[in-house]
Parts: sequence; C-alpha cells; structure tokens
Amino acid sequence: MLSKTMSAAVLGVDAWPITIEVNLTEGLGYNLVGLPDNAVKESMHRIESALHECGFMMPRRKVVINLAPADIRKEGSAFDLPLAICLLSVSEQIGAVDISDYFIMGELSLDGSVLPVKGVLSMALLAKKMGMQAIFVPKENAREAAIVSGLSVYGVGHLQELVDHFVTEPLVAVRVDLQELFDHQDSNFVYDFQDVKGQEGIKRAMEIAAAGSHNAILIGPPGAGKTMLAKRLPSILPPLTLEEALETTRLHSVAGKLHANQTLITQRPYRSVHHTISDIGLVGGGAHPQPGEISLAHHGVLFLDELPEFKRVVLEVLRQPMEERRITISRARFNVEFPANFMLVSAMNPCPCGYFNHPERACVCGTTVVQRYLNRISGPLMDRIDLHVEVTPVPFKELESRALGESSASIRARVIKARQIQQVRFKEKGIYANAQMSAAQLKEFVQLDDACAGLLRQAMQRLSLSARAYDRILKVARTIADLEGSEGILPQHIAEAIQFRSLDRESWGA
Ligand SMILES: Nc1ncnc2c1ncn2[C@@H]1O[C@H](COP(=O)(O)OP(=O)(O)OP(=O)(O)O)[C@@H](O)[C@H]1O
Ligand SMILES: [Mg+2]
Repeated sequence: MLSKTMSAAVLGVDAWPITIEVNLTEGLGYNLVGLPDNAVKESMHRIESALHECGFMMPRRKVVINLAPADIRKEGSAFDLPLAICLLSVSEQIGAVDISDYFIMGELSLDGSVLPVKGVLSMALLAKKMGMQAIFVPKENAREAAIVSGLSVYGVGHLQELVDHFVTEPLVAVRVDLQELFDHQDSNFVYDFQDVKGQEGIKRAMEIAAAGSHNAILIGPPGAGKTMLAKRLPSILPPLTLEEALETTRLHSVAGKLHANQTLITQRPYRSVHHTISDIGLVGGGAHPQPGEISLAHHGVLFLDELPEFKRVVLEVLRQPMEERRITISRARFNVEFPANFMLVSAMNPCPCGYFNHPERACVCGTTVVQRYLNRISGPLMDRIDLHVEVTPVPFKELESRALGESSASIRARVIKARQIQQVRFKEKGIYANAQMSAAQLKEFVQLDDACAGLLRQAMQRLSLSARAYDRILKVARTIADLEGSEGILPQHIAEAIQFRSLDRESWGA
C-alpha cells in the first residue's frame, strides 16, 4: 500500500518539487529514504504527537518514507503536514483520498496546530508553473501564497482542518487581489525631510541618489545630521514596481522575514545594519544558504552607519555583489544565487576626532591620521560609491527656526518623474535606474557634446580626479538631467555631478 503527495524544498530563491511517498511494510519502526536532514527525522516525533491529539495513531507497522528526488537537500520541518496526511491515508484512518495532485506544506506542533514555514511564495510559484490544482499551506502563510493568481490556496491552521477538508468539510480558498494590494500601497513614512532644517545641498544630494538609485556616502562631524538625513531617504524613494515588489517579497519569504499574514512588500526595504554584523549576516550564507542583509535590501536601501567601524573583511565581501547585483554562494554540491540589487548608503566621520573640516571646531588629527582614517574604506569600495556628500552642521540659528523645510512628498514627486524617464529608457534592458548601467549601456545612453566633454576633461585634471571617477560622474549627470527633464546632458549637469567626487581628490585631507 502506498500514499503519495507533493511538497517543495527551497534552494536559494527557487523551490523544487519533492514527491513524498509513504508505504507500510512488515515490521515496526520507520525508515527514511532520500537524504532528509535531522529536522525531517525529528518530524516523526512531532507527527506522532499531532496524530494523537486528533484522535489518530501512528500505524503499528513499519513506515517507509521516500522523499524524492534524493539529490535535493531537504531542510526543515515543512514536510510534517504532508507526511502526516500521507500516513493517515496509507493506514486507512481516513477514507481513500487522492492527494497526489496537491502541494502540501507546514510544520506541525505537538498539539497538531500548523506553524508557518519559509519560502511559501516560491513554492506557490512552482505549484502554478507545474499546473497543480491546489496548494495547502500554513494559515499564516496563506495570503503570501495567494498573491500567485490562478492557483487555489488553502490556509491550514490545524492538522484536523486538513483531515476535515478531505473527509467532511472543505476549506475555503484564500483570495488576494494582487492589483488591489499594489494599488493601495502604504505611502506613510515615519521620518520626513521637512524636519531637517537647512541642509539644502544635502537634501539635493539625497534627491539625486533616490532618483538614480545611486550609492552615497555622507561624511561629516558628529551631530551634523548624517543619520537623521539617511533615515529620511525611504520617504523620497519611488514606489516599487509590481515586478520589483514580487522579487523583494520572494526574498523576504525565503528568509522567513514576512510577518504573519503579510502578503506583498509594497515599500522599498530599508535595512540599517549594525557594524558588528558578520560577513555571512551581510551577504548571506550558512549550511542551508539564507539571504543576507544585502538581499533583504533588494530594490531598496542598505544603510551602513559609522562605516569605518565595520570589519574590513565584511566590507570587502560587499564589493562583488555591488558590481553584479547578486551574490553566489558556493557549496560543495550546489551553488545558490540570491539577487542583491541594493542602494548602499553609508555615513562616517571624516577623522578619528570627527572635526576635520568643521566650520567652528578645530580638528586635532594630523593630515596623515585623516588620510589613514579614510583609507580604512578600501579604494575599490569607495570606487563603487557615486555620491560623496560632505555634511557640515547647520548654524544654531537655523536649527532654532520654526520654519518647516520642503516635505518629502514634494521631493518624492520629482524623484518619481525622473524614475519614469529611466523606466522608459531601460525597458527590456533588465535594469531600473541610471546607477545600474553597465559600461556598454553607459556608452549607449550617455553621450557628451564637446562642451560637456571639455568641461569634464578640465575638471579631471584640475581636481586630480582619478579615472575611476569618470563613469560615476556620467551616471550622476544623467540622473541630474533626468530630474530636470532634459534629454541631453548639459554642462551644468556635469558641473554638479563633479562636486560629488570630493573624496577622490588627491588633495582631500590635506
Ligand atoms: N539640520 C538639522 N535639522 C534639525 N535637526 C538637526 C539637524 N542636524 C542635526 N540635528 C539634530 O541633531 C541630532 C543629531 O544628528 P545625527 O545623529 O543625525 O548626527 P550624525 O551626523 O549622525 O552624528 P554622529 O557622527 O555622531 O553619528 C539629530 O537627531 C537632530 O535632532
Ligand atoms: Mg550618526
């Protein structure tokens, strides 16, 4: 006698189908085939207890369980529920039910209630692709799975509910209108730029960063408002497109970071990471590779405050994914890839005492000390930062003023306009914003007339800008032109973009 159903295992962001077969033979005990890890072995104890709670029992025979294909590493406890229902079916404790055409997943607690699992959205996408009739998932994950249209999704709160579904009382499918969810995005933000007094130049830099998804570093003395400004960035970022929202939600689903009953992530993620983070925490990894902060920040912002405090190795692992916009984690038997298209925003003091370049206080660090401090951030990492923003504290008089600054909503409106231009430009190019242009795309989309080229050449020489600054300036100039609605790049766009290379100048710190 044999009972069979389907489930899925997640590797990276993708789910893979797993066939679950349960057979009863002569003897006692159980046998697991198909490389299950410890969690699957432990699940037999949970299943036994859950069956008892529902008035059923473990068959008094030898139970043979096969999870196929054998070469996919199966992790976790998501197979509790399908195994339990197979056991009930094969031992004829429930009538003959055909469960072979369903995807079933969920962890059982000892009392039979069903606990949430990771990666349900990827599993639902797979079920749809395979033309499955229906998918049974933990109740808390049901809305997350239901954003996949054309698939019946059932939320199961307790093992008994699943038994009842097949025997007596069918569950009601969960429905979510993806378009409606998407149309009613939350545009309330905790922090608003109108609370920031003065700092018009810095706000402008943040607007440019948001408009072109440019990496930025804020550098300035303590109390200048760097953290305050960075916290307000989410309020001016353009809304996610539906495609972006789905990609981001999928990563959070795989990492188990969606809240109960959360469906779609509709605000760009903003991940503020502490400097004690490990490299695995930042870029992802582990025995069962999980996404790190850079992937949780996919299509959003990764904020590293007090940048020189991060361990050097941790910062160095950022370099490759910043370039490739994804991270590949290699294991002996498999490779896993997580998307990581994030905007890096960081903040730092200019020197150990913090007061270099301060308008009123004297810096006690010598030139070499200032340079050495800056050198804690490696050249190649600095290379990948488009905007160097020097923040000086606003005078006390301005702080006292009661006048509100420009609101985030009105800055955001300009950012959205500039992004729309980029969306049209990069249609079918696989990128979303100017900062993401490859060298070839830069050639295609950013052409300078003689006046602009001359100005740039002159500035490069006069300010001893490094060659690596060149591409950065072009990308930023493109964004500045987009903010102005200008098709061509004009000298004033180049001139403004050049200002954001201050840390490149060989004279910095002198
Ligand atoms: N332009 C400003 N408008 C209003 N408040 C400001 C401004 N600049 C600084 N502040 C006030 O000063 C506080 C300190 O700013 P913040 O923590 O952002 O400084 P910081 O540059 O990050 O300093 P540190 O280098 O010490 O981390 C803010 O919380 C805010 O109350
Ligand atoms: Mg700070």
